Amino acid sequence: MSESAANNARTRYLVTSALPYANGPLHVGQVVGAYLPADVYVRYLRARGEDVVYICGTDEHGVPITLTAEREGKEPQEVVDYWYAHMKETFSRFGISFDNFSRTSTPLHARNTQLFYLKLKEGGYISEAESKQMYSPTEGRFLPDRYVEGTCPVCGYKEARGDQCDNCGSWYEAYELINPHSKITGGPVEVRETTHLYLDLPKFAKRLKKWVSSQDHWRDSVRNFVLGIIEGGLEKRPITRDIKWGVPVPEPGFEDKRFYVWFDAPIGYVSSTMEWSEFAGDPDRWREYWQDPDTKLIHFIGKDNTVFHATIWPAMLMGVGEDGEEPYILPYDIPANEFMNLEVVVDGKSRAMQMSTSRNLAVWLHEALDRFPADPLRFYLASILPETGDVNFSWREFKERVNSDLIGNIGNYINRTLSFMEKYLDNEVLQPEKLSQATREAFADFKELERHYDLRMRAGRPRDALGELLAMSRKANRFFDSEAPWKSRREDPENARTSIYTCSVLLGSIAYHMAPYIPEAVECVQSFFDGPVSRISDLEKLPEGYRAHGAKPLFRRIEDDEVAEAEAKLSRAAEGT
Ligand code: 2FM
Ligand code: ZN
Repeated sequence: MSESAANNARTRYLVTSALPYANGPLHVGQVVGAYLPADVYVRYLRARGEDVVYICGTDEHGVPITLTAEREGKEPQEVVDYWYAHMKETFSRFGISFDNFSRTSTPLHARNTQLFYLKLKEGGYISEAESKQMYSPTEGRFLPDRYVEGTCPVCGYKEARGDQCDNCGSWYEAYELINPHSKITGGPVEVRETTHLYLDLPKFAKRLKKWVSSQDHWRDSVRNFVLGIIEGGLEKRPITRDIKWGVPVPEPGFEDKRFYVWFDAPIGYVSSTMEWSEFAGDPDRWREYWQDPDTKLIHFIGKDNTVFHATIWPAMLMGVGEDGEEPYILPYDIPANEFMNLEVVVDGKSRAMQMSTSRNLAVWLHEALDRFPADPLRFYLASILPETGDVNFSWREFKERVNSDLIGNIGNYINRTLSFMEKYLDNEVLQPEKLSQATREAFADFKELERHYDLRMRAGRPRDALGELLAMSRKANRFFDSEAPWKSRREDPENARTSIYTCSVLLGSIAYHMAPYIPEAVECVQSFFDGPVSRISDLEKLPEGYRAHGAKPLFRRIEDDEVAEAEAKLSRAAEGT
């Protein structure tokens, strides 16, 4: 009996990927942080028969959006409309299988954010306080930190940002800058008092600490980071801003202010799930995913988002669940991934450099998809997911991994098995009466690899699980080699059929395990292969036979000149030419 049938209770999962700001194209650093690992995991869970909803959408508020709009002379709405559509299309080209891709500018989301706020207020978690903020008299408005520039009070760097110095890394308040001025107009700015609403994080400190400490299954890096923050002392956090773009604050006197983007963004996960239930014609269904303690809520994020997802957001969830309504569940896991740097050739030498979107020193996903199909890109990126430390993206390595591992190992195995069946065995092999010793051993080895793959995947380590898939394919190729059906087909055709039958069972397993990573290729395999694409461990009995028809190579080789072009583009950005 299959494992999932034996367990028969399905687990309910709500998986989310960080909501990307709708202000520019997606780059591969974001992809490996929050989207590809989540998508692989979700596809795996669905195939294992679990109940999964995968949620995302664009983050459409805040300074990142208004800065882009001002720079481009557009209205924020125009910016987010354009990038919402662009991102949705790019994700779909890349095969990211969201169940819903919403946006935080919907009326439903605004209502939801205000409701969260009102419940937090009812719970006694909101207070009002005055603070100092930079004001531009010429523009007649308060300026967010990122709109202010000046001389760093620590190192004297002249173009220091309002909140952090790019030269020495110091953090300070914008009013501590020397000679502060507006980044937009260059005009002078002054300090004025302004009133904001604050979330009382210290009130959650004890509960947060207890909760985080008991999350033994979290990555150590995430748990230790969050515990450090809590132990360092939590402070009240302002949840409103002097800005006109965002969710309105339902309080008199706050008409010219909006909620801080990091207050409304995570609520966007809830709003997107509600929208999904509405689209599904079952408007209350979202509650199962947010309020049933049996649901596993998993947030895939890049590590820079950890504090928001593992401290502030859980506090908000704790705070809104106290008014007699069903409480919200807390995240079950928050796999935060590390960063990806780029291997760039500068002056003839290859070196790792940090991505810089403003300098166009980035691998944009839509451009990568203009050059190459989704599957090889997914395969390479999955093989270097930054699960345990920062990694480097290299076009050269992309070519090598695709040509040697994807084509030379996996593609070769599938192709040689199916071609053999077509060329020499009239497209068909039937189950032999008796399994050879070599076959029994191959099946046992495969079951062990399937188990390892499963363990890695369940632990949220799709990169390591991919390593097991490559091991399966290597083993299958070795089995093919040692059986040498090209020899036996002449002297003992039955023997060749038996070998290829076993190879087909292995092929079904390889295709099954490939599916979360390279779904398009697996669809192709299914179109020219009749037989179960299944784990061997799940087969109740061995299939009666397999048929092949019209198999073609699954992947094309990546050529030197294609990679050289992609590399040259990065070099030009790095050299500023
Ligand atoms: O860092 C970012 O790109 C944010 N837009 C992520 C938001 S995640 C969530 F909270 F919505
Ligand atoms: Zn400095």
